[in-house]
Amino acid sequence: MPAKTLEKASSIESLRPLELDELEGRTTDFQLYLDIAGKPVLYADGPYEWSIAEIEKLHEDGFSVLFYDPKARNNADSLEYGKIEPMIDDAVVEVPSEVLSHVRDGLSSTIATLNVQSPVSAAKISAVFDDLVVFLTSYPQLTAVLRDLSHHDTYTFFHSIRTCALSVAIAEDLGVKDEDHLHDIALGAVLHDIGHLKVEREILEKQGALTSMEWVQVRQHPRQSIELLEEFEISPTTKAIIIQHHERPDGKGYPFSLTCDEICPEARIVNLADIFAALTSPRPYQRQLNKTSAVAFIRQNLSEFVAPVPLASLETLIAD
Ligand SMILES: [Fe+2]
Repeated sequence: MPAKTLEKASSIESLRPLELDELEGRTTDFQLYLDIAGKPVLYADGPYEWSIAEIEKLHEDGFSVLFYDPKARNNADSLEYGKIEPMIDDAVVEVPSEVLSHVRDGLSSTIATLNVQSPVSAAKISAVFDDLVVFLTSYPQLTAVLRDLSHHDTYTFFHSIRTCALSVAIAEDLGVKDEDHLHDIALGAVLHDIGHLKVEREILEKQGALTSMEWVQVRQHPRQSIELLEEFEISPTTKAIIIQHHERPDGKGYPFSLTCDEICPEARIVNLADIFAALTSPRPYQRQLNKTSAVAFIRQNLSEFVAPVPLASLETLIAD
């Protein structure tokens, strides 16, 4: 264990927690602290390689999290971080109508690009979309969180709406016919990246490789999504989608490194829709693919990232 140095500049309250298990097999290049009797004690200074044995030892010693100072990044010129707090108090909140119209329009335009063959399926999907808009209208505080996301990370906001439409279409095609179940999937998909609110905009928009600290921030967004939404009554299915949407069938995803059967089917659907929506969107650092090329790219290069069953369904939905 490295020498411990009392950090006098920061209190533990000013630091952010980082799950110890997130560090397994990784190298960090920033300071990480232990909480010793409420005081931050420097444990790792970068670059620092994290072995499984060391993480197990820390667990044995009673530690499950370390702490870092998000403001200590090199070139930390962004003042955004930590300042965005969604409106989740009990105050009366006006429904952000522009968010509802973006959701409505985005769902309609995305589903129009898909080949939903059965009129019954098309009607069901349309009813689920209508229900989602009514739901968001009924929960203005929740819709305000989406509004905050649209201001903080416009790409993710619109991307989430596309992911939602794709997810509902795939789920319906795979035999999910119950509208409440489809609603849970729709809500999970539209909120899956709400934790981006806690990630610096500079990192979200970065075109080059992420530093290890930036990587740590990004990988925390599923947990942060759940934390941001804990004030709201959200179904277990919706929560599972949000926390598991970056898990991979090969067990190399995050935050839990779940393997195929451990990942709920709904999260596997949203995971695929998320990847497909990203590949078919224009981004400064990536060539926009058409639908056919995107599915071919996933089959050829990302097969370990996605589950095969929803991919086969997506393939039928994009067929001309
Ligand atoms: Fe995500």
